[in-house]
Amino acid sequence: MKNNPLPRLDITSDWRDGLVRHCRLKPGEVWLDPDGAHRVGCVDATDKDAIAGLVSGVHPTLAIQDPPYNLVAFQRRSIQEYVDWSRSWVQMTQAVLAKDASLYVWLGADQNDGFQPLADFMVMMRDEPVVPRSFITMRNQRGYGTQKNWMAVRQELLYYTKGNPVFNIEAEYTDIPKILRGYYKKVNGVVTENMERSKSDTIRAGNVWVDIQQVFYRMEENVSGCYAQKPLKCIERIIRASSNKGDYILDLFAHSGSTLLAAEILSRSCITADIDPVFCEIAIRRLEHFRKTGKLGWQNSHPFENEMPELSVDGEAGTPRHRQEQATERVLF
Ligand SMILES: C[S@@+](CC[C@H](N)C(=O)[O-])C[C@H]1O[C@@H](n2cnc3c(N)ncnc32)[C@H](O)[C@@H]1O
Repeated sequence: MKNNPLPRLDITSDWRDGLVRHCRLKPGEVWLDPDGAHRVGCVDATDKDAIAGLVSGVHPTLAIQDPPYNLVAFQRRSIQEYVDWSRSWVQMTQAVLAKDASLYVWLGADQNDGFQPLADFMVMMRDEPVVPRSFITMRNQRGYGTQKNWMAVRQELLYYTKGNPVFNIEAEYTDIPKILRGYYKKVNGVVTENMERSKSDTIRAGNVWVDIQQVFYRMEENVSGCYAQKPLKCIERIIRASSNKGDYILDLFAHSGSTLLAAEILSRSCITADIDPVFCEIAIRRLEHFRKTGKLGWQNSHPFENEMPELSVDGEAGTPRHRQEQATERVLF
């Protein structure tokens, strides 16, 4: 079995820099899918002209935005600067969305620092012409914490709507069987219990998602090098619930390309961007790899395996085993 992962690219900048020469997009450029379904732009989410050019003429019905929010990238920015930056891509998103559309935003709350930036972002969103609809929490299996606090295992997801978009309720059902009886209610004069009344044997996800496995290196969908990859299952749930086949989906922070791949799998079109050419390349290669092999990621290898079939065993980034463990230490909030 191969054991050839990339290290986390955010903390091994020399590795990232080495990969840039293998990237087909330079800053400002757009990749148009030869199959005609998707677009990937190496652009800044806050660059109005670049985003207008990328979207050009299309009005997506769904946006799934997952900005950097662990503040690693914003160490020198104040929370106000982060909020101002967020407002600019939020407004950009709204400007290009269809008149009936959904906007989902993944964001973290640092419990060691005033629950920022989530709290500040939610307040900022009150000024925007969208309707707040739900505040979803996805539960991670692994977390961070100390012996003196509750372990942090949550990933927050905000759901807003513009106009009157679709909501396909079937998408909300999980694989978790209903096991609790009770909740008696009279229907047409007959006392019924909840199992009899329900349309499904399984429970609805609701706004606390406990049934989604966090990505780790043993999973086929793993894309080593990425430090903030979302599981396909949660992106697919959003896409199924809030779009229809053939719709356009917008994601301005592509990273591992989870939204792009989920859109392909579910017969939607994705317009996605990343400011970093390396993550644009990874997203495009993930799509191409899926089309060629049916695989969702690289598990024990990586997207640049053709150019770099064997990574050095003892380089600065450590042994393959070390890199694998390091890649597992994803950013969790
Ligand atoms: C949290 S990750 C997104 C994870 C993604 N949802 C996934 O499942 O792989 C954030 C990404 O945003 C990119 N990014 C940071 N600032 C950006 C900007 N101003 N415009 C576009 N992309 C940006 C980073 O390079 C990073 O790849």
